[in-house]
Amino acid sequence: MPYAHITGWGMSVPEKVLTNDDLAQMVETSDKWIRERTGIRERHIADKHQTTGSLATEAAANALRMAKLPPTEVELIIVATSSPEYIFPSTASLVQDRLGAENAGAFDLSAACTGFIFALNMASQAIRSGANKNALVIGSETLSRLVDWTDRNTCILFGDGAGAFVLQADEEPGGVISAVMRSDGSGGDLLSIPGGGSAHPATSQTVLDGLHFIRMNGREVFRFATRVMASATKEAIDKADLKLEDIQLIVPHQANLRIIEAAARGLKLPMERFMVNVDKYGNTSTASIPIAVCEAVAQGQLQRGDNTVMVGFGAGLTWGSVAVQWTGPFAEGEPIRIRRYARIARFRSWLRRLWRHIEGLLWGRGRGSSA
Ligand code: UT7
Repeated sequence: MPYAHITGWGMSVPEKVLTNDDLAQMVETSDKWIRERTGIRERHIADKHQTTGSLATEAAANALRMAKLPPTEVELIIVATSSPEYIFPSTASLVQDRLGAENAGAFDLSAACTGFIFALNMASQAIRSGANKNALVIGSETLSRLVDWTDRNTCILFGDGAGAFVLQADEEPGGVISAVMRSDGSGGDLLSIPGGGSAHPATSQTVLDGLHFIRMNGREVFRFATRVMASATKEAIDKADLKLEDIQLIVPHQANLRIIEAAARGLKLPMERFMVNVDKYGNTSTASIPIAVCEAVAQGQLQRGDNTVMVGFGAGLTWGSVAVQWTGPFAEGEPIRIRRYARIARFRSWLRRLWRHIEGLLWGRGRGSSA
């Protein structure tokens, strides 16, 4: 049975930074309050040209470059997101087109902030079963578009960004070695965007009522998170037949420093064993774990041969974890020129649209004459 190795990783965050002091000009809050209650100092916010799909495409391109995997060879693309570009088509389909991954099946996965963990597990199962040789797993968000910038309970927390992993099959043991996926829909109301779906289709009234914004019961979500982070970490370690001492680094969902500290207390581990970058990016939902992994590797906190656990929680309620034996990139060969694939893909898509248009005209005329 092949193993699912993480052979490439990449991230993309918008340049624009919003500091706590900037927020204090917008709502009644302070840098001190935000730092003490969340650990966040600043977050990145997409400009008007950036979207969940564009950030996802950039992060994916970086991951493919590292894995030296041409987009045309990608077999599966999963985008975990809570802020898709549209209800449909999926953001994954947009990414597939922009990358020129013409042989890939692509779909979005909705499990809020836990989405990346669920997507990573699904992709690794597809590889381990032999169904796919590789997969691109992306977490991408522009939550700034779904935040009520007058609500101090939520607007201080979230940021934009994307992270991506390339998974590839190999007979050598390693990569994703265990996973835990859990849901408790009875807590669905604790963190939601009530409007715009089939329960409350968009009307001028739903917009006036702000139903298209993120709503959250912060205290309840906090209590739930502190309960599940340590237990999900332990469960993934047990399933992998490892011990806590075998784990060099835990990469938790970056929502609140106090939640990570509670998990560290629960596991009786020092904070040095946890990757933390919530101070720089805030909560980027599905993107937070892959972004944290990219930075952990860049800083030398995660190295080849290390064991790591990635653990997350979010709306749904959902929570989950994966244990990974980090094998690093083992790409050989020439660097791949992602931009060239993207240019060809743009041209091909343009031709396909043109052809559809011509076919439509011909078909329309034919139908008209036979009627
Ligand atoms: O990916 C999952 C996403 N969600 C989360 O992870 C959220 C988990 N929850 C949290 O991180 C925390 O609950 C928050 C950071 C959201 C809030 O921290 P808290 O320590 O739980 O504060 P609280 O909600 O208990 O509020 C304490 C006080 C309240 O005032 P009163 O009622 O005590 O007078 C709030 O109105 O702080 C007030 N408050 C603020 N004050 C200044 C709430 N937000 C702010 C703010 N600035 N931004």
